[in-house]
Amino acid sequence: MALQLRPPQRADREPLAALANDSRVAAYLRDRFPHPYRPEDADQYLDYLEEYADVALARIIHWQDTMVGLISVERSTDLYRFNGEIGYWIGSAFWGKGITSTALGQFCTFLFESDFMIKRLEATVFEQHTSSIRVLEKNGFQREGCRTKALYKHGRFHDELLYARINPNWPKQSF
Ligand SMILES: CC(C)(COP(=O)(O)OP(=O)(O)OC[C@H]1O[C@@H](n2cnc3c(N)ncnc32)[C@H](O)[C@@H]1OP(=O)(O)O)[C@@H](O)C(=O)NCCC(=O)NCCS
Repeated sequence: MALQLRPPQRADREPLAALANDSRVAAYLRDRFPHPYRPEDADQYLDYLEEYADVALARIIHWQDTMVGLISVERSTDLYRFNGEIGYWIGSAFWGKGITSTALGQFCTFLFESDFMIKRLEATVFEQHTSSIRVLEKNGFQREGCRTKALYKHGRFHDELLYARINPNWPKQSF
């Protein structure tokens, strides 16, 4: 199979940092995704995944046996505890090959069948981030709205689009 998702390992720190240390990758991500991105930043993220395994879950994306990026989900809290926010990034050398579209499809299937208990997957995206919007729409995420000027990045405000996809098969019985 050309594309595989696998759990992250400690040994991923160097290749993760090598892929992530790119201003093009960071451009439309939250500021907590550092730039420059060092192996120590990968360590911190791997620590976080270990400590908050009930909240955050990530998979390394492999394409043609090469590690190319990462896809993740983060559970919300309180009344939103069955919501998960999706995030993804791949190295810029691998853009435009359909990798993230395929990875997101596989990740949604995996999550919807797993014990992670997610009813609703959400993603937010800069309104001008066309390739990410396309990735979401191709995977059945519906646009639910626009948060006008919600984002502040690169010295200016941006509109943020909200996308969601519902898990139709969970829970099997209401509780
Ligand atoms: C956004 C990102 C994940 C896309 O990954 P990718 O593997 O290149 O995406 P894919 O190749 O699966 O699909 C991209 C789609 O966008 C389309 N696309 C790309 N640039 C486009 C543009 N400028 N205008 C319109 N469509 C565009 C492609 O044609 C493709 O759609 P298609 O399959 O219908 O032709 C990748 O660029 C990335 O990692 N960026 C940095 C991190 C990031 O921004 N993450 C998302 C935060 S919300």
